Amino acid sequence: MKTRSPTPVRTPLPPADARFQTFAQRWAAALAAVRLYPAGNPMVETAVERLVEASAHLTEAGASAVVVRQGEHLCLGGSGLELDLGRSPGLAELRALLEGHRVNRIEVAEGVAATEWQAFLEVLARDPAVSGETSKLARSLEEAGVEAIEVESGPRDLPRDLAAAGAGSGDPSAQARLAYQESVEGVREIYQRAQEGRALEPDRATSAVRPIVKAVLQDRVSIMAMTALRDFDEYTFTHSVNVAVFSALIGHEIGLKRDELQLLAMAALLHDLGKTRIDPEVINKEGPLSDLEFETIQDHPMEGLLLLGSAGPPSRRLLHAMLVAYEHHMGANLTGYPRVRRPRTPGLFTRIVAVADSYDALTSHRCYRPALRPDQVLLHLADPAVSTVDPALVRVLIQVTGLYPVGSVVRLDTGEVGVVVAPASDPARIRRPVVKVVKGEGGESVRTPFVVDLAQPRPEGRGYLRSIVRSVAPEEVGVAVSRHLE
Ligand SMILES: [Fe+2]
Repeated sequence: MKTRSPTPVRTPLPPADARFQTFAQRWAAALAAVRLYPAGNPMVETAVERLVEASAHLTEAGASAVVVRQGEHLCLGGSGLELDLGRSPGLAELRALLEGHRVNRIEVAEGVAATEWQAFLEVLARDPAVSGETSKLARSLEEAGVEAIEVESGPRDLPRDLAAAGAGSGDPSAQARLAYQESVEGVREIYQRAQEGRALEPDRATSAVRPIVKAVLQDRVSIMAMTALRDFDEYTFTHSVNVAVFSALIGHEIGLKRDELQLLAMAALLHDLGKTRIDPEVINKEGPLSDLEFETIQDHPMEGLLLLGSAGPPSRRLLHAMLVAYEHHMGANLTGYPRVRRPRTPGLFTRIVAVADSYDALTSHRCYRPALRPDQVLLHLADPAVSTVDPALVRVLIQVTGLYPVGSVVRLDTGEVGVVVAPASDPARIRRPVVKVVKGEGGESVRTPFVVDLAQPRPEGRGYLRSIVRSVAPEEVGVAVSRHLE
């Protein structure tokens, strides 16, 4: 006799309100119309107009038009309100289509025009969802001129994303590489302008971080890999970009929305701009600093504040950047600099940037000290007894990157040595990332390095096939990390 597998028990979510249900149903109906009729057909036009109207009603009511796919369900972003898929066959189809593209979240900006909605629906209907790559769908949308509707893969789909994007091979996607390079180029220009005494162009800074935010939302693993490909000669610029990446990763994890991530990443990118006003001999000094030199360095937060304050009329983005520049060395407990007389709590963006800044600086090679191992740095920063940054936000970073972030070199209990190429498929298993084995048990180089998921259990079901014993310095075991991430 055949038995049916038990249905997993699940706590029912509250139903979505009528406005959101209408919005989603009209969305599904418009998608069906685009599939059935040629462009320009009145049925398509009417369906899209009704969708635009429902979207407007939603935003007028103060709700964000964000759809989140949670496994078999569709919810209103952030609220946990669940859509009744049974009320419209089109909705179930829409969910299946999103799953095919590995899309977990769609955010619709306010006031999206009918033409853009139509272009979006056409891409969704046309592109076969066989690749399972959100980044491919995102690329098609970009080519079709769709800017105000963003698709994202999310942490829940990381394992499938890894397989689809080839992240298991450790190859950052070409898109993430391009995003990273564009940002480095942006910082270079911004710094050069500042060194020439010319005012910052806020739009240039915004455009420099846009690709980073996009990559964090769509292809986290690849952009994390890019942060591990450090360029010693370009430290100032790559460090600024890395701080923006790690800040955006933390911000995304705590639920900041895209526009907030954009503000955060911009502030992160510019946090050290004040250093352009400090004597380069002091900034670039390789040995220990004298008291006077250290005092000079301590001026850079105030210099940053002034530089950013003179970049144009006050705006949200400039004010955020000014505050972060001014506060980023203050420390969560105000033991850093500049010293303040009255008690205050540094802003959330500042606390995020301070974590990202400390983490990236300590894990980078500097001329005066070798890089520290990422897991050591994370544990140090997360320890409230010694840390000067916000330990809660360090724990958030660990949740995103795992304890052994991409680029870490680790010794396994098999004696093998591997390079971490992706975080754990289950964020709760911070010690079980995806690793490329590059050295065998005897320390010999593996002819064809292979990728293993450390969350993989033994076939007999007890314990794991491989586990990390400890992290090691790449030079200790003769591993060129960048070779295995490129
Ligand atoms: Fe700084």
